[in-house]
Amino acid sequence: MKNILVIGSTGQIGSELTLELRKRYGNDHVVAGYITGSEPQGELKNSGPSEIADVSNIAQLEAIVKKYNIDTIYNLAALLSVVAESKPRLAWTIGIDGLWNILELARQYNCAVFTPSSIGSFGGGTPLVNTPQDTIQRPRTMYGVSKVTTELLSDYYHIKYGLDTRAVRFPGIISNVTPPGGGTTDYAVDIYYSAVKGEKFICPIGEGTLMDMMYMPDAIRAAIDLMEADPIKLIHRNAFNVTAMSFAPENIYAEIKKHIPSFEMEYNVDSLKQSIANSWPDSMDDTCAREEWGWKPSYDLSSMTIDMLEKLSSRLK
Ligand code: SER
Repeated sequence: MKNILVIGSTGQIGSELTLELRKRYGNDHVVAGYITGSEPQGELKNSGPSEIADVSNIAQLEAIVKKYNIDTIYNLAALLSVVAESKPRLAWTIGIDGLWNILELARQYNCAVFTPSSIGSFGGGTPLVNTPQDTIQRPRTMYGVSKVTTELLSDYYHIKYGLDTRAVRFPGIISNVTPPGGGTTDYAVDIYYSAVKGEKFICPIGEGTLMDMMYMPDAIRAAIDLMEADPIKLIHRNAFNVTAMSFAPENIYAEIKKHIPSFEMEYNVDSLKQSIANSWPDSMDDTCAREEWGWKPSYDLSSMTIDMLEKLSSRLK
């Protein structure tokens, strides 16, 4: 039986990933790691153990690994792209110094480690259409710089020490549970909230800007399936392109309008977000993930929109 620590369990991905891991591996086998000020609430709090797990405090992490006999770490501690631009030092401290602590600990206690990368790891010379698995990665955002470093450091520990590190490059992730904070792709979450609340949506990303996206259930499955994959079949490790759909603001708007005809959207482009979005792929090629560990998304824009609107409408009423 696996014993798992989720670092960043109260964040956008962590909150749903932790609950799914508890379903699969048993409540007592999945520790929800959090930082002071973002304590687990509700089901996350009540369904299993939780511990303060600050990536900058290796002694604290070590105590958790020992106490629960942890063998797998999902490391989701990170700042999203827009926030990272305003706090570059903190983004590095959490993303890279924190990862270093985790990898060192994992080496000592023989833990597998999942640290997601992102579409943000591309930019500056990357082919943006059908972005290949192995290609130029010269991003100019601190988010991107830290994600590329994450990939390199994770591969380094695998090659040098045989550590079982694996990761995906997540696209923008859309969920109806925990809202994201400070990402470039967040507009694709916010738009659903506006639609359900009957408000006009002011879109910070310009017409025609394509980005890869994924519905949360697929993102959770990607993380778990990759960690369950047969290592013999993995040619790549850190990190796999994975995508489910690619759309521009006008596409998601049109999709929502099919269900809520009165919904309105207007553009007010945010120059920072737009420049970040312009440097990211229009569409990623995720053939390697499909071939090496059987990745296949189950939601597209249309089925995701139906589910998002249904879930948010019943919750926000
Ligand atoms: N969702 C992230 C962001 O927009 C990208 O991976 O920052």
